[in-house]
Amino acid sequence: MSAVSPDSDIQTTSRGFSCKLCNVNLPNLPSVDQHVKGRKHQTLSAVRSTRKSHEERSVFVSGIKPEISQTDLTEYFQQFGAVSDVIVDKDKGVYAIVQFNETESIQAALSCVEHQLKGLKLKVKPREKKEFKLIPKKKNDPQNLQQIFDRLKPELCQLPSVDAQMKFMVERFQLGENEKKARGLVVQLLQEVFVEFFPDSQILLFGSSVNTFGVHSCDLDLFLDLENTKKFQARAKTATEQAGEGMSDDGRSEDSILSDIDLSTASSAEVLELVATILKRCVPSVHKVHVVSSARLPVVKYHHRELNLQGDITLNNRLGVRNTRFLQLLSGVEERLRPLVFTIRYWAKQKQLAGNPSGAGPLLNNYALTLLIIFYLQNCEPPVLPTVDQLRDMACEEEECVIEGWNCTFPSQPIAVPPSKNTQDLCSLLAGFFSFYAQFDFASSVISLREGRPLPVNNFLPQEKDDETTQEGKPNQQRPKLGPLNLLDPFELSHNVAGNLNERSLRSFQKECQEAEKYCRSLRYQRKSTKGKTWGLARLLSPPGEVQQAKPEQFVISIPFKSESLPEKLSKELQLAGEGSRLLWFQKVCSAVEAVLTAVLRCHLLPSTAAGFSENSATGAEDMDTTASSLNDSNQSVESKGDSSPQPAAAVGAKRPLSSGSDSSVSPHGKKPRLARRWRPEFPPWMCVQKHTVWLGRRKVRRELMKDTDCRPEGSCMELESQVSASIAEREPELKEPLEFKVCPQMVGGTENTRVLLKLEPSSDQAGIFHDFFHFLEEFVPKMVETLLEKGTA
Ligand code: UTP
Repeated sequence: MSAVSPDSDIQTTSRGFSCKLCNVNLPNLPSVDQHVKGRKHQTLSAVRSTRKSHEERSVFVSGIKPEISQTDLTEYFQQFGAVSDVIVDKDKGVYAIVQFNETESIQAALSCVEHQLKGLKLKVKPREKKEFKLIPKKKNDPQNLQQIFDRLKPELCQLPSVDAQMKFMVERFQLGENEKKARGLVVQLLQEVFVEFFPDSQILLFGSSVNTFGVHSCDLDLFLDLENTKKFQARAKTATEQAGEGMSDDGRSEDSILSDIDLSTASSAEVLELVATILKRCVPSVHKVHVVSSARLPVVKYHHRELNLQGDITLNNRLGVRNTRFLQLLSGVEERLRPLVFTIRYWAKQKQLAGNPSGAGPLLNNYALTLLIIFYLQNCEPPVLPTVDQLRDMACEEEECVIEGWNCTFPSQPIAVPPSKNTQDLCSLLAGFFSFYAQFDFASSVISLREGRPLPVNNFLPQEKDDETTQEGKPNQQRPKLGPLNLLDPFELSHNVAGNLNERSLRSFQKECQEAEKYCRSLRYQRKSTKGKTWGLARLLSPPGEVQQAKPEQFVISIPFKSESLPEKLSKELQLAGEGSRLLWFQKVCSAVEAVLTAVLRCHLLPSTAAGFSENSATGAEDMDTTASSLNDSNQSVESKGDSSPQPAAAVGAKRPLSSGSDSSVSPHGKKPRLARRWRPEFPPWMCVQKHTVWLGRRKVRRELMKDTDCRPEGSCMELESQVSASIAEREPELKEPLEFKVCPQMVGGTENTRVLLKLEPSSDQAGIFHDFFHFLEEFVPKMVETLLEKGTA
């Protein structure tokens, strides 16, 4: 069945498709296919089925009073069939939902003429059937964001400078004293409740409530420290064993919740379930409590009704508390940091890049975004902030701190850190942030705040000795999970804090940085408008859609360098190639693209344009020549900053003149890199002719070819995909007017994200179908190239 059937969640729209379940627009069929198989759609479908099944087995009961308990209702309704759950309206206790095990029990309950319980007449009705819909979270509701911005805009416009606007962002959004007090009271209340159940436990605040970057209604992140409770429990156990009194047989206090759990052996999921139960039952105003055990650090999430606060409670999060101290310290050291963080966080939220707006896929979390800002400030010329290693050296002996084996030492007071020599104003620092990341080569770098420079990603690729274990049974080396954006935590060096990001989110981030960079160069950003026009931050921070210019359509396919999914053999080859590694990768990708076009998609290449690399070629197109130079050059921009010799930091990620190219690039041995010299890419554009609609109906043909075996995902097998194209070509007549198009491969990197760009130009498209073909290629080619690289067939 096609994804677009009348009863399906997918509907056709004037601009493609939309999924009404998840509330997202999708441009073409491949993206529909991907979306339907994706986690969000699958989870929501599962939630919808569960809800439906609950609705079909439950009744709505009204007319109860708060003194009627859950148990009373369960006992009463059991006469109609086994009851699986009773949910009583917690606030006023006037209605309840009673859920049976079997649907038949509903009829029995509904056919009873009168329901009486403890002298009260109850009304029993079937459940209303509500359509299941994704309700966007209020906090990030685009409409809500727009309203806030509409109020902010005139306030910003009347200020005299961008610096004043940035300071205003802090004043306008920071947590107020009363909010801090109210939060303090919640923490105090939680502390009092938890200490009853977990003697000697401690609640510690971390994250935005206390790191100086908190805005109104930011989360209340808490760490429940049970270390002392564990000790208490161990002592109690020993005492019982000695005295044999007042305790249960297993040595735990009989009258405390600790009799239910042994903290020294319980899993964090078990402890968190207990924490959730305490929150639900004993803390007033707290609701929507649930455990998220799939997170890297499992948490209990809750909502405080009166303060309208979202909160998380974690266990074992000493590192979170320590990195919060680190952010506080930097705020104290450098007063320009807060206005920058407030402004950039707001910008990122408006552009749906960070925070967690509903339905927009994996985004940067605020912590990661703050670290990106700090890293940029470490790389200004002269630096605005010191590196984490430098901070460690500024600390005294008493300030030494190691948590879980990670060195977390830094001075406790800002006074210990010498002031920066950088005198740039906020306006130019903000513009600098955008141009720094607009040109940053994320794909080939691992961002290290410890060293204050990008490290070559090659150093982090998996190696054979990773599998070895040390004597203590720990993995030999803990490596961060690599992804499109690699940002090391400043302390937990095996944690990539942006590890959740996908290619698409990174692309959006870099694209928005490029847009912002362009805008910051204009007078409209720098100077107050005398004609009452929107200027400065008021325009920079506008939500998407408000300032959009129509752009001519370009057919460009991007094949990113994905360090995280390189096969072992290729990883090693790239490591061996050293400075020539990018060109080697480019060569492999181009060979793979050519194979996809010819062998898989049956395109005919015009003979004179067959691609290849030749030694010392002098025929390469001029832009390719400079591309090659810039590749060598950009390699150097990452790798030549030696450990011990700090270089002018502004060079990192910044544009270098292409003309300095290969002549200035030097191998680690002081020689010109041989690979770079020999492998000058010579890719005249491929002139392709496509005679069949090989992009149409592929899924169906693939399924037929696979018959009984599991259908493999699109692009995961070269032989199968070639057969699919062949089969389509056999069945379908040739196009009357074949599609002719040019494909120009180009490698970019160093001064932007490393990737191969394939620019497509249709030269004849009489049937007007190139657009569809392109959308297919856009998804298919990168997947297929990845498969070929993995198999080592490229
Ligand atoms: P958030 O990303 O929520 O940042 O991480 P925030 O500053 O509190 O912003 P809000 O809450 O979205 O407004 C919360 C805290 O969790 C820890 C950090 O201490 C951070 O301040 N954290 C987060 C980590 O230690 N590692 C991570 O990868 C993410």
